[in-house]
Amino acid sequence: MHILLITTPLFASLASAGIFDSIQSVVKTDDPAKALASWSYTECGHANDPITLHSVSVSPDPPVPGSPLSVNISFTANEPILTGAYIDVVVKVGYIKILQKEVDLCEEGGVLKDTGISCPVEKGDHVLRKEVDLPKEIPPAKFTVNAKGYTVLDEDMFCVDVFADFLTNVGRVGL
Ligand SMILES: *[C@@H]1O[C@H](CO)[C@@H](O)[C@H](O)[C@H]1NC(C)=O
Repeated sequence: MHILLITTPLFASLASAGIFDSIQSVVKTDDPAKALASWSYTECGHANDPITLHSVSVSPDPPVPGSPLSVNISFTANEPILTGAYIDVVVKVGYIKILQKEVDLCEEGGVLKDTGISCPVEKGDHVLRKEVDLPKEIPPAKFTVNAKGYTVLDEDMFCVDVFADFLTNVGRVGL
């Protein structure tokens, strides 16, 4: 039994929700996952939110634990996004909440670091690009990440749920 550090990149598909650099949680596992069987996301925001998410693509797809992952997220800012915006991130394994964290969008070391996008985020279409290193040791489990973004005025900015199902049995995903 060893301690597993779950780093933000595990949830890289959530790039728009920006949990790249600052989330860490400790979970124990005996048998780390070797593959991501499937992942998906759904928007849970409102039609008039300041940010509209268009697509998320990752390479390789599906992501491989222990390998670099590049992520592109295309979105529209329906209004300028100002410094002070933040994201409330909740990570669950199954139904159990393992982590809740608020992450800043604009600050030094914030979500937008090294993405090609800086604050204030201008109104219009954007593609956020990020390179991340997936941790090698990810528990074989079903993860849900809920990310709710808020503006500097604490108004809803966006909402996305990401689902990721990690397996130990590599053969089942044909890798
Ligand atoms: C991200 O966009 C760049 C530039 O358009 C492209 O070269 C790259 O393949 C894209 N990566 C992914 C993961 O979609």
